[in-house]
Amino acid sequence: MIVVANWKMFHTPSQAEMLSKSLVSTLSPKLSQVTNDSQACEVVICPPYVSLERVKTILSPADSSIRLGAQDLHWEEQSARTGKVSADMLADLGVAYVILGHSEQREYFHENNSSVNKKIKAALSNNIKAIICVGESIEQREMGKVNDIINKQILECFLGISKEEAIKCLIAYEPLWAIGTAKAATSSEVQEVHAYIRSVLSDLYDHETATKIQILYGGSVKEENAADLALIRDVDGFLVGGASLVAEKFKAIIMAVLSSPA
Ligand code: PGA
Repeated sequence: MIVVANWKMFHTPSQAEMLSKSLVSTLSPKLSQVTNDSQACEVVICPPYVSLERVKTILSPADSSIRLGAQDLHWEEQSARTGKVSADMLADLGVAYVILGHSEQREYFHENNSSVNKKIKAALSNNIKAIICVGESIEQREMGKVNDIINKQILECFLGISKEEAIKCLIAYEPLWAIGTAKAATSSEVQEVHAYIRSVLSDLYDHETATKIQILYGGSVKEENAADLALIRDVDGFLVGGASLVAEKFKAIIMAVLSSPA
């Protein structure tokens, strides 16, 4: 399993430093103690750009099960793009993962499947794994269009991505109506969409490739529902927003994952 903390635009660098110290001191020993019948879990922390370096310093001496991630990048390198950050800059800082195509990027900053596609290519060519967010709005769900939306997002985001590259990508299914609403999708809703995502990947590449691509669920994951969500067959991890901002809540989610059956 893999659990990704998306801190969004929360926490100053000093707050980010305190939170990551607390997470590292509690979680590092637990993550490295995994036995045969308990679940292995990798943790990724995605702070705002300005805190990446500070968080990296705290993670460095710890074990490699807590990795650094970013929340976006620009696909160009070394060019006149005021305000943007490129993949080679992130790689130089030790960033191992990047969240791409988050619904807030799509809603507020004109992100679309074609820009996500360019960003995935930039990430992969700098050895950064891409966590690609997909998901439908409540209106689209009510109109019975979930599969159409997900299919289009995956096909357009993965355009021109080989299967060797695809296995360095993760997909996060985040229904828009579950993000920050305290109303997570039900286990059957999650399994249905995750299985569908797996089938789209299988058609696009092949069965083996589809099983290697980790599919995360995101949208109001909390300590109260993490254990149940972790049991879902096609769930390989979580993308956590609000609950990742508070040390005790995030630790409880990780503990729930670690105690779920392997
Ligand atoms: P949430 O956010 O956990 O606060 O619902 C998830 C996300 O936006 O990635």
